[in-house]
Amino acid sequence: MIRVQKNRFSMFGVKRVLLFAVLIQCAFFTNAGSRDQAKRIHDRIAGVQASDAVIDSMAAAIDGENPGAAAFTAMDNAAFYNVTLKNMVTPWTNEEQTAFAPLNDYTATVIGIVRDDLDFRLILSGDLLYIGSSGPGIPAYNNSNNEHYAALEAQNVSLKDNLVGSSPQSSITGLPAEATAGVLTSRAAAQAFFKDGTNRAMFRFTLLNHLCTDLEGVRDTSRPADRIRQDVSRSPGGNSSIFLNSCIGCHTGMDPMAQSFAYYQYEYDEENDTDGVFGRLAYNREGDVDPETGSRVQAKYHINSNSFKYGYITPNDRWDNYWREGQNQSLGWDEGLPGGGSGAKSMGQELAHSDAFSQCQVRKVFRTVCLREPLSAQDNTQLGLMTTAFKTSNYKLKQVFADSAVYCMGE
Ligand code: HEC
Repeated sequence: MIRVQKNRFSMFGVKRVLLFAVLIQCAFFTNAGSRDQAKRIHDRIAGVQASDAVIDSMAAAIDGENPGAAAFTAMDNAAFYNVTLKNMVTPWTNEEQTAFAPLNDYTATVIGIVRDDLDFRLILSGDLLYIGSSGPGIPAYNNSNNEHYAALEAQNVSLKDNLVGSSPQSSITGLPAEATAGVLTSRAAAQAFFKDGTNRAMFRFTLLNHLCTDLEGVRDTSRPADRIRQDVSRSPGGNSSIFLNSCIGCHTGMDPMAQSFAYYQYEYDEENDTDGVFGRLAYNREGDVDPETGSRVQAKYHINSNSFKYGYITPNDRWDNYWREGQNQSLGWDEGLPGGGSGAKSMGQELAHSDAFSQCQVRKVFRTVCLREPLSAQDNTQLGLMTTAFKTSNYKLKQVFADSAVYCMGE
């Protein structure tokens, strides 16, 4: 018997050594269950194998009834930032919602906010922008290209150790401080959602990515239509009932919110650079006059005015949340906020202070860590508990990662 085993193992010498190491550790330090749990937590959070020493300390924390500490240990691994967070955030930064896109100022800023345990709601309103520390072969941040971030990624720079958020977005990009709105005014978001169109895409994708609902889910035909722009026909195909039963459902709520972006545009060379790779975020400051509108409002807000000439003519960046009444009260708006204002910053805050925003972040982290959708009643209860813990932690996203990892670490 012994001979046979020896022969078998000698074919896999490395495995034998590993097996011995595991057996010894199981016998003397921790039980097998907690080591498996530690490995799973590490794998789900960092996506890479941990050293034995790290697994030992995590397993000890699990045995000591503190599995959350084990999860935080896993978050010390640089791969949590460079791989897990990067893959989770990247789809939010493009219309295709693909993770296969380069690092950019939107992803880097979200990653930095997580690393520094900032109030996660600031992603939609803060005067914040994370850049990489300077180094050989790393070009400086540039308003007109993504090369700074592409170089950080190409050199596999540790985002955990090299992201810098100490300079406000306004000082890096030159945007007026009051015009900054976290990632909404990042270059990457501008290229994806302010390029062409009518700036409604920025609103739609923010809703999709950060409140976890598309406009279909918030359609409400009962709201006043007074802020729907001229470009939306009131009788599409000659039929006004389509307007009243369909178009209104989205545009009554969306148009007065997307008005907050009235002074923004993505400027690029439409002939030689159709993707806008070298474009930049433009913003009409106080005193600027767009020749098409005669005001700070971008021309795209007044296009196709013949579709319905009695429609709303956008005069400024005043926004109002018509969904504070009606069925979309269920998104859980913050009673402490006025529900209206001027510009993207206060509109971003309105969205980020909703219950739907917190629930959405928790849901996304759950999916990332548990590798599945929350489905059961037990899962839903857990989402509720994690949302409360997220709020209590002062909106630290790492807390949600820890809670998700513990919930899904297995028996
Ligand atoms: C499910 C929600 C929804 C409904 C219903 C809806 N829209 Fe829209 N509409 C949008 C969104 C979102 C955009 C912004 C699209 C973008 O730029 O990505 C938009 C953009 C537009 C635009 C600007 C041009 C463009 O294509 O970007 C027009 C015009 C328009 N809609 C008209 C209508 C009309 C007319 C109806 C009714 C037949 C209608 N919409 C129904 C959500 C909706």
